[in-house]
Amino acid sequence: MTTQIPLIGLGTWNMGERRASFVSEVDAILHALRVGYRLIDTAELYADGACEQVVGAALKAFGRNMRDRITVVSKVLPSNASRKQTITACQRSLDRLGLEQIDVYLLHWHSRHPYAETIEAFLTLQESGLIKRWGVSNFDTDDLAQWLAVEKQMGIAPEKGCLTNQVYYSLMARGPEFDLLPAMQQRDMPLMAYTPLGSGELASHPELAALASSMGLTAAQLALSWVVRSGRVCAIPKSVTLARITENFAAVERQLAADELAAMDRIFPPPRSKQPLAVI
Ligand SMILES: NC(=O)c1ccc[n+]([C@@H]2O[C@H](COP(=O)([O-])OP(=O)(O)OC[C@H]3O[C@@H](n4cnc5c(N)ncnc54)[C@H](OP(=O)(O)O)[C@@H]3O)[C@@H](O)[C@H]2O)c1
Repeated sequence: MTTQIPLIGLGTWNMGERRASFVSEVDAILHALRVGYRLIDTAELYADGACEQVVGAALKAFGRNMRDRITVVSKVLPSNASRKQTITACQRSLDRLGLEQIDVYLLHWHSRHPYAETIEAFLTLQESGLIKRWGVSNFDTDDLAQWLAVEKQMGIAPEKGCLTNQVYYSLMARGPEFDLLPAMQQRDMPLMAYTPLGSGELASHPELAALASSMGLTAAQLALSWVVRSGRVCAIPKSVTLARITENFAAVERQLAADELAAMDRIFPPPRSKQPLAVI
């Protein structure tokens, strides 16, 4: 990958919803960190902030001396994305995470607030050290171009501006390959693929499972190694199941050969025209 984003991270959506699951969810994230995951994705939206508390507890248990090696991604809600509220939302997230800095802070999806306002807030947060980098999520090609144009107008150098765009991308949602992914690659911007297992559906897809088995992989592993095949896309599968967390992590080591990719194209054809960005 061209920028400093690991190829695989752990998603956390739906964690923090039930107090009774707190300990097992902390254990799941801790297990991921021990296995070698170096990116954790969360958001203020998830469980109304309780998910960030789960992530914070796991990071604490993993040890402060490891903090520098882990990329923590969180997201501001569009309704909070004004110049002022973005800053207070970030401070609340930092409190829940028990951190001094969020590594990558994303605008979760479009907001009614002008991009310039959100970008100004991101700049302020960066200057005060509360975030390292910022990015966007659920932005299709035109929206991303507009966001980048505003950054340019504000005199922000490309290497300091939007780091990534987190979007739905999987074998079941190949739309970004048509124009979004090429546009991002042209700017050397990695794509962060959410829901890379199709919410788990791909793990039990019969044709994918048969192909994966012939390659000595599970269907989930094949789905993930496909997502990260270019080295410019990061996948953030979510799991609270220890064995699956280990299984998913191993997937990124497998390079797929041209004939294997062709076999996957026959099951999940690539897009032939522009498709509006799918959103979950
Ligand atoms: N920016 C956005 O708008 C946005 C939107 C959606 C998601 N996200 C992020 O992306 C992350 C991942 O997406 P997602 O959670 O929607 O879906 P996902 O990662 O595609 O799938 C998660 C589901 O797959 C199951 N699973 C995981 N590994 C498996 C394996 N090896 N075999 C069988 N089943 C497996 C999980 O079950 P168990 O947990 O029970 O193991 C869970 O039910 C989210 O958690 C969140 O951090 C961001």
